[in-house]
Amino acid sequence: MTKLTIRRPDDWHLHLRDGAMLQGILPETARHFARAIIMPNLVPPVVTGEQAAAYRDRILAALPEGAVFEPLMTLYLTEDTDPADVAAAAESGLVKAVKLYPAGATTNSHSGVRDFDNVRPVLEKMAEIGLPLCLHGEVTDSDVDIFDREAVFIDRVLDPIRRATPGLRVVMEHITTSDAVAYARSAGDDLGATITTHHLVINRNHILVGGIKPHYYCLPVAKRETHRLALREAATSGEARFFLGTDSAPHIDALKEHACGCAGCFTATNTMSILAEVFEQEGVLDRLEGFASLHGPAFYRLPVNEGTLTLTKGEPVSYPEKILTGAGPVTVFDPGFPLHWHVSN
Ligand code: NCD
Ligand code: ZN
Repeated sequence: MTKLTIRRPDDWHLHLRDGAMLQGILPETARHFARAIIMPNLVPPVVTGEQAAAYRDRILAALPEGAVFEPLMTLYLTEDTDPADVAAAAESGLVKAVKLYPAGATTNSHSGVRDFDNVRPVLEKMAEIGLPLCLHGEVTDSDVDIFDREAVFIDRVLDPIRRATPGLRVVMEHITTSDAVAYARSAGDDLGATITTHHLVINRNHILVGGIKPHYYCLPVAKRETHRLALREAATSGEARFFLGTDSAPHIDALKEHACGCAGCFTATNTMSILAEVFEQEGVLDRLEGFASLHGPAFYRLPVNEGTLTLTKGEPVSYPEKILTGAGPVTVFDPGFPLHWHVSN
């Protein structure tokens, strides 16, 4: 196959930031994607329906002339979140999910949840109205090794939450382990799992061997090769529970290339080319559309996009090494192999 036309894809986990960074990186997503689930971890976080509406307006105002892109807003769950505010924001169509960060798990997560009992009324309301909970699935206990934090989260937090809240629809976000793949497969259709582009490409050696590579550092951190292979198998399996959430997370180079570098890989620019290469390597290019364009809308109970995207195989494609934003330069994820799939609208 040298040409493939798919329904226009969506990104079910995206960081757009705000201000000059938003302005600089939004075109990278809007070029290929019709919609995205927008992460609420701004400073301060997007906690209320009113804040989500204002953020949505800022995103729409930052779109390039003529671009068509729909931000699907989320609320950042705190121990003070009001179930009625969540319900009203969902009812109005503004908010499509609530995001749970365990406090301290990742970038800008200090306002996250410490005691899960304190968010029980919100989770119960969400189960009642069918609003999905997006989970950053890592425990934060200092005695748990960073490479084990996802697997421990499944046992200590995810499974108990699901048992205590029947009917709660959950997205395990940016899964990085075979444990998460297995857990997702053990559940019914009230559980989905997103997989990033970069976790299909890198393992932990890419970060650490031959010198530290800060642009490969993200959270959850990439694991050993067996896990990467399990993720590739899951993403390319055609199973509807697995879908694309890039977790494209821009930080300026000065904060990535730093003694205490920020977590996040920026993949918005070249994600579709990389995914085409990965699905081709696995011999299942015909399943790319399911992963990127069909399974996500099915889980979120939204229509699939009317538009299309065409991928054409040819000479290696070059993408910019950096996106120059008003906030500073952002390095584009380097998959480490040539990309042959050209993407056009
Ligand atoms: C994200 C960010 O920078 O906001 N970073 C990352 O490594 N993925 C936060 C997150 O989703 O964990
Ligand atoms: Zn993220």
